[in-house]
Amino acid sequence: MKFFIDTANFEEIKEAHSWGIISGVTTNPSLVAKENISFHDRLKEITALVPGSVSAEVIALDAEGMIEEGRKLAALAENITVKLPMTPEGLKACSVFAAEGIKTNVTLIFSANQALLAARAGATYVSPFIGRLDDIGQNGVELIETISDIFTIHDLDTQIIAASIRHPQHITAAALAGAHIATTPFNVLQSLFAHPLTTKGIDQFLKDWETRTNK
Ligand code: E4P
Repeated sequence: MKFFIDTANFEEIKEAHSWGIISGVTTNPSLVAKENISFHDRLKEITALVPGSVSAEVIALDAEGMIEEGRKLAALAENITVKLPMTPEGLKACSVFAAEGIKTNVTLIFSANQALLAARAGATYVSPFIGRLDDIGQNGVELIETISDIFTIHDLDTQIIAASIRHPQHITAAALAGAHIATTPFNVLQSLFAHPLTTKGIDQFLKDWETRTNK
């Protein structure tokens, strides 16, 4: 499973990218709204830094508007992926982009049937939101497992991005459930490094190093 970072904050992207673990970036209108920036300028900065897929979401609700917006976004850089909502209009736009060779990420996936529809419309990625499902008492990770099984049985190339990640357990569970990618907030990425025995081990190594006699 690969890691994308789920943020529009450039400092977070730069830091996580410097760790050598980031294969892409996802943004959404809520994440962009938190930053005081021009969306297109930020996308240019991100795409210049991160060579992998950078998801940029359309705002239009009709297919025609999504296609117009998506083409403009895709023209900003070769590694832009157009993010589309899981609606009939979103899938109309998805199939047009698939025919044009523009990568797509169908977002706000909450059921296996939605994922199957998006895959059949030619989506490059589907984004099931596991945290938001957990929030309403459903099992987000089980959804990833079901989608993964369906895509394998039917030999579908669409990749699964586990989205709405809230904590480290989501990462391990999504990887085991067959997600190709976990798009992960910066604070969760940071928390993946932490283990008390790692910290204790480093402290002990440094203490022992100071006690060596042939300095
Ligand atoms: C990513 O593509 C999604 O937009 C994001 O992971 C949603 O996360 P949230 O449920 O924490 O807002």
